Amino acid sequence: MKTIKIQLNENDIPRQWYNLAADLPTPMLPPLGPDGNPISPDMLAPVFPMNLIEQEVSSDRWIDIPEEILDILYRWRPSPLRRAVYLEKYLETPAHIYYKDESVSPPGSHKPNTAVAQAWYNKQFGIKKLTTETGAGQWGSALAFACNLLGLECKVFMVRISFDQKPFRKMMMSTWGANCVASPSTETNAGRKILAEMPDTPGSLGMAISEAVEEAVTDPSGKTRYSLGSVLNHVLLHQTIIGLEAKKQLEIAGEKVPDIVIGCAGGGSNFAGLSFPFVADKINGANIKIIPVEPTACPTMTRAPFAYDFGDTACTTPLLAMHTLGHAFVPPPIHAGGLRYHGMAPLVCQAIVEGLLEPRAYHQLKSYAAAITWARTEGFIPAPETSQAIAAVIEEAEKAKEEGKEKVILFNYSGHGLMDLLGYDAYLSGKLTDYELPEEELQKYLKDIESLPKAEMRKTGKW
Ligand SMILES: Cc1ncc(COP(=O)(O)O)c(C=O)c1O
Repeated sequence: MKTIKIQLNENDIPRQWYNLAADLPTPMLPPLGPDGNPISPDMLAPVFPMNLIEQEVSSDRWIDIPEEILDILYRWRPSPLRRAVYLEKYLETPAHIYYKDESVSPPGSHKPNTAVAQAWYNKQFGIKKLTTETGAGQWGSALAFACNLLGLECKVFMVRISFDQKPFRKMMMSTWGANCVASPSTETNAGRKILAEMPDTPGSLGMAISEAVEEAVTDPSGKTRYSLGSVLNHVLLHQTIIGLEAKKQLEIAGEKVPDIVIGCAGGGSNFAGLSFPFVADKINGANIKIIPVEPTACPTMTRAPFAYDFGDTACTTPLLAMHTLGHAFVPPPIHAGGLRYHGMAPLVCQAIVEGLLEPRAYHQLKSYAAAITWARTEGFIPAPETSQAIAAVIEEAEKAKEEGKEKVILFNYSGHGLMDLLGYDAYLSGKLTDYELPEEELQKYLKDIESLPKAEMRKTGKW
């Protein structure tokens, strides 16, 4: 029998995070303030604690992981690297398919890797309460879990449509002691304004971010901060523990560098967490195809321009240079695959501009079909987001078969789908349809960013 579970023990856990900003061949464009000038770190201080702001702007290659954070992560880390031998056999592919299983964390995804770190740094800084947004609830439940362990209060603004359709995630948040409300809500100025203009809106991540930021910065005690589950540099940094573990595990499995690395991308954090240590190898000459995957309903990396845009709908965040569908973008309710954010992590976007990554988009019927193939071969039921990555894995494994090549494919199994079964039900009963964002609609959303500063495309041309 082939080895199908490659485990590390607690002593093998990485003790530093990897920061791709130190190695990008072209520097990233700075975040800009409302006046169009680069912001200084202290301008972020009402929103984030200074110790996380320092990580956000750091260009150090390696950043130590505090021992107390590791003490919490040991509950599920190092996570297993598994080989998908049953899928390989089903596909009759010569490819070796490995997946880093992030679904084994208590909330069921990669999100607690940064939730724990962020809650810990906030606590060190004297903060008592964190606010955040959540889409389907993976991030909200991860932050609720982390805040509970660190004794912080937690308030989560959950996108209305998911709040109504996915009550189980809300129950998880309550179990861990957090307060979860539907967004837009009547609890903030941003929420009330949106509701007055669009009373029936299904909500969006951009709207929920506006509410969560407002609640943090208006706390008169000054002891509340906002926490973001993806997109920002420090969030991606905390996720690199995934790729660093995977490197050690692939070595144990007798593989050198992988040929292909795949992750789904919403705000970019799980993709970055697995892939950035391999992007570093690619910058240093390795031949690796690195693929972030997104839905055709929310085609940020594959169709949206690289531009300066706000991170939220109410235009309260700094302007970030990223691929963006426009901050007013609202995905259609028919889309059941997650990954709905209008922007993308600036670090991921700079790597795309540089040509280091090869983004791809799939229709939801294809990704649900991939999820069903996975569930009926490997057995585990993936999160809808993860299924997008699985669609790419199957495509690459089939290509390896056509070419007769024993390629090593590594992907991030970012979460389980046991709280997302309504999407499976809709798919299995034929209620889901494919959806591609129409060009006119995209252009309409992009009108909102026309007057913002333009983002220069910096690249070396090496890739
Ligand atoms: C299981 C799972 N995978 C992937 C994602 C995508 O997020 P990100 O791109 O930030 O990793 C999410 C987001 O909520 C998720 O819940």
